[in-house]
Amino acid sequence: MSDSLQAVLAALELDVAEVNASAGLVSRTPIDGSQLARIPISSADAGASAVARAKQAQMRWRDTPAPRRGEVVRRYGNVLRAYKDALGMLVTLETGKLLQEGMGEVQEMIDICDFAVGLSRQLHGLTIASERPDHRMLETWHPYGICGVISAFNFPVAVWAWNTTLALVCGNAVIWKPSEKTPLSAWAAHRLLIRTLSEFDPWMVDVAHLIIGDRSTGAWLVEHPDVRLISATGSTGMGRVVGEECARQFKRSILELGGNNAAIVCPSADLDLALRAIVFAAAGTAGQRCTTMRRLLIHRDAYATLIPRLRAAYASIAVGDPRVPGTLVGPLIDAAAFEAHRRTLAEATAEGATITGGERLFADQWPDAFYVRPALAEMPEQSPTMLRETFAPILYALPFDDLDEAIALNNAAAHGLSSCIFTRNLADSEIFLSARGSDCGITNVNIGTSGAEIGGAFGGEKQTGGGRESGSDAWKGYMRRTTSTINFGKDLPLAQGIRFDL
Ligand code: UN1
Repeated sequence: MSDSLQAVLAALELDVAEVNASAGLVSRTPIDGSQLARIPISSADAGASAVARAKQAQMRWRDTPAPRRGEVVRRYGNVLRAYKDALGMLVTLETGKLLQEGMGEVQEMIDICDFAVGLSRQLHGLTIASERPDHRMLETWHPYGICGVISAFNFPVAVWAWNTTLALVCGNAVIWKPSEKTPLSAWAAHRLLIRTLSEFDPWMVDVAHLIIGDRSTGAWLVEHPDVRLISATGSTGMGRVVGEECARQFKRSILELGGNNAAIVCPSADLDLALRAIVFAAAGTAGQRCTTMRRLLIHRDAYATLIPRLRAAYASIAVGDPRVPGTLVGPLIDAAAFEAHRRTLAEATAEGATITGGERLFADQWPDAFYVRPALAEMPEQSPTMLRETFAPILYALPFDDLDEAIALNNAAAHGLSSCIFTRNLADSEIFLSARGSDCGITNVNIGTSGAEIGGAFGGEKQTGGGRESGSDAWKGYMRRTTSTINFGKDLPLAQGIRFDL
């Protein structure tokens, strides 16, 4: 184990021996490809015992007043504040995202903790007017049951926190199956939560579990009849398997899958602002966010001005070690990601693309790491390659002539996660936001497609899976609703005017 990792784990006050196993899942840093740690794979028995203990704890947890559950989450938020630097560095080491972004990911966890704490006093239903005299109707929200969380490598801890903090204040136990590419960050975030729970009340440790493994571990979790809800983030292929199994068992699923997010640049756009927003959203995080901007639709009047500026920005953007200040683009996660990047660029070229950038960098210095210069691909039309999500920093640019055409191009993707428009024209913006505008779950104006705040509901339509996580009323996804009709009179009037006199 490297000195820098040892220092990070020591700062987190975690037991290095737990992740220094002689066998198990290997965690690597994409910064140079070296091994960080080795984490034991959860046995089938360990998984079964996690579900059994979660089931027991759930019964006590659901009877614990929601504001008290919120208090636990509040303390976890404070723990995250105390360890933000070390956990942020660990995320950077394991994902290769910039140090600022590693810290930003922990900040996103802290923000959702605060949000969940507030929610813990507001899990409110409705009262509804009854058609019958001396009757009243009301809705009550109850915990849903054990929630399984499947998370992806690119946000190895924040997306789990969106789900877990809400699920916990809503009165559920949580079992987490993280990406096999980022088990170390998951282990650290989970351990900090367990420590918080144990300090609160020892039995509470059983409301949160971590199971480490590959695809088969995830499948096991999804199939387990006692796990009532699955929230899965990752590829559309994975989500389809999860969704089908959940449907078969009538489980609830919250799916946050891929995106093929577009920006529309109108003639009135502020191009200085648009340029910065585009490069951050398209090249930032090495194109490995589900919200990454992948398609850039530019009005023909702005195309000739914006493209050379983008080419210049792409040629000069600082690619390198994500820990070094000034770096703007770090490495791809692994060799398979690089292979997909390379293959996609070859396919786009065959479709007539003019490509700036895209080449591998630092191969001599770091043969086991995969740094690429972000690629700008000017396309003759919206081709099949452009309509496919490749998890790499490739931005396809295409001119358009009118807004209706641009909206049709935006909506032609199979995914429906994020979208944005750059304009100073109120009508363009409103049309984009209207029912005949973007069909995505996120529709931004004068900001890019990525970098959403936690306060809004996060997710999208079509092959993005339809789930919503994080803010707004996404908490309702982790609860079940009961409708109660209460008769406080002496008679028994029936609804719909039915008479049933004995
Ligand atoms: C993801 O890539 O799965 O909006 C989540 C964003 C981040 C979350 C991305 N707040 O880009």
